[in-house]
Amino acid sequence: MIENRPRRLRKTAAIRRLVAETQLSVDDLVAPLFVREGINTPEPVHSLPGVFQHTRKSLLEEVKKLRDRGIPGLVLFGIPEKKDAKGSEAWNPNGIVQLALNDLRSELDDEMVLIADLCVDEYTDHGHCGIVKSDGTVDNDATLELYQQIAIAQAEAGAHVTAPSGMMDGQVQAIRAALDSKNFEDIAILAYAAKYASALYGPFRDAVDVEIADGGDRKGYQQNPKNVREALMEVHLDISEGADMVMVKPALSYLDVISKVRAETNLPLAAYHVSGEYAMVEAAAANGWIDGDSVGMEHLLSIKRAGADFILTYLACRAAENLQK
Ligand code: PBG
Repeated sequence: MIENRPRRLRKTAAIRRLVAETQLSVDDLVAPLFVREGINTPEPVHSLPGVFQHTRKSLLEEVKKLRDRGIPGLVLFGIPEKKDAKGSEAWNPNGIVQLALNDLRSELDDEMVLIADLCVDEYTDHGHCGIVKSDGTVDNDATLELYQQIAIAQAEAGAHVTAPSGMMDGQVQAIRAALDSKNFEDIAILAYAAKYASALYGPFRDAVDVEIADGGDRKGYQQNPKNVREALMEVHLDISEGADMVMVKPALSYLDVISKVRAETNLPLAAYHVSGEYAMVEAAAANGWIDGDSVGMEHLLSIKRAGADFILTYLACRAAENLQK
């Protein structure tokens, strides 16, 4: 005699809904977007099917579409025409991201949360996330000064949230101090707290035209995929420095990290379903090997189940459409 029959609760769609433990909602989605200087028409990113480098105009159209789908937030990345050693276009008030933020804030005001990624790798000619010293390593403290200028430029341009992604020590504290010194106390910081040196960022680097000089990598500042205790330490440091929200990135290979961070903090927790995670779904789906929509939704659901409150994902628009069906 079988005493326990969990299948009783799986019998109908209605009872499955009733006992579902996790919900994915359009409210959980943040769309990453790219805006590029010096182009007249949007350019597709080949390794990210469905994702474009936008003009200021096409960005605005795309964002209105996302708003109409009910998506509450976006994270913006810029591709400048000119790159230099320091990445000075990142804090130029007339730099592409600042201009685009101005457009979005004038058009949408507070209808969507405008998150600005804060880093210099899209803007430097060597592709690193900071100032490179003569020995090839990134100068932590000199880089913080750049990040402070960027935070202020983004706030002045209309960002609601700045999201430092460079993994420099002390970046949250430095940025908080800079924002407060200019009366931007209301601008929130979403800290990429546990960001791993992952091979899954490959397609993103196509999207932002970044190649790290001399075949380099980011292992000197991003985290080692072998470590999870270190992620908790990074999260605690960022919280103590004033982070308003923390992020784990990438998502799927780091669900254990999401789950452990969830247990450690009551702050909102974000996870970034990154370019490589999206590209793998798209590539397999294009070959007819998987049902891309279903697998994509399963990815996002699993990230929520692990404990994330919201997800930065290139699937945002399609997921919103699927959720409305
Ligand atoms: C750095 C940054 C990266 C991503 C977001 N911010 C790239 C990197 O660290 O090399 C990757 C996002 C993705 O892969 O979707 N500015």
